[in-house]
Amino acid sequence: MLEAKVYIVGAGPGDPDLITVKGQKILQEADVLLYTDSLVNPALMEQAKPEAAVIKTAGMHLEEIIEIIASEVEKGHSVARVHTGDPAVYGAIFEQMTYLKERGIGYEIIPGVSSVFASAAAAGIELTIPELTQSVILTRAEGRTPMPEGEQLIDLAKHQCSLALFLSATLMKKVVRECLAAGWKESDAVVVVYKATWPDQKIVRATLGTVDEEMRKAGIRKQAMVIISKAADQALLEQRGKYESKLYDKTFTHGFRKGEPANG
Ligand SMILES: C[S@@+](CC[C@H](N)C(=O)[O-])C[C@H]1O[C@@H](n2cnc3c(N)ncnc32)[C@H](O)[C@@H]1O
Repeated sequence: MLEAKVYIVGAGPGDPDLITVKGQKILQEADVLLYTDSLVNPALMEQAKPEAAVIKTAGMHLEEIIEIIASEVEKGHSVARVHTGDPAVYGAIFEQMTYLKERGIGYEIIPGVSSVFASAAAAGIELTIPELTQSVILTRAEGRTPMPEGEQLIDLAKHQCSLALFLSATLMKKVVRECLAAGWKESDAVVVVYKATWPDQKIVRATLGTVDEEMRKAGIRKQAMVIISKAADQALLEQRGKYESKLYDKTFTHGFRKGEPANG
């Protein structure tokens, strides 16, 4: 039984099967469902109970959305506010939470599968290959939203770890320029996943030198995840044994397994 409050639910990247079980139960039980129709798969809303109100929010501004939520919660209704991917990354939930807090409305966040992980899965890559790259930076190129000091792509790219860029498909010339200026090579691998897990998903495998042109050829200008990573190089799959984690190394002891001596 849901409470009269807001459930901020991560819908996952697109495929309706990629919502969590908890998120799905909330969609099935909520009295009111609000979803961003430009990004969240409408198929998910089909499981709402027949008497539930299902409201599209792509054309609304924040105050309108908050007014609907507040009046429904005041009536004792449960509200599912459904966001694409995981709400914690570029979900614009913080501003909603400040309004909800001010009005004394309770909320709970249900995580979802972010497009960064759906894209890595679609492209068949591990973002953290031992001894190659062990960190992932989730960021975006600077467009109309200014980046805070020290978070320009050129600064972050200097780490040479895996970079996952949201909201950056229209800014690829700048992305490439900043990565090269930060020390990446034109031959370094980039994979771009358009609409990961949707039926019209596209995957572009390129290098920093070719990615802008390849994306143009593929007609990708939005809803794309750009992964710039030494781990995105498909040739690595031919190099069995070169990069292996200690976790499954038979000579490596850890809490769940005693290692065998290196010499047998
Ligand atoms: C407003 S952000 C929302 C991100 C979302 N909270 C998440 O965790 O995936 C929208 C950006 O996420 C990325 N994105 C969202 N869904 C995607 C998908 N199915 N495939 C590829 N990228 C996606 C794109 O970079 C898009 O510009």
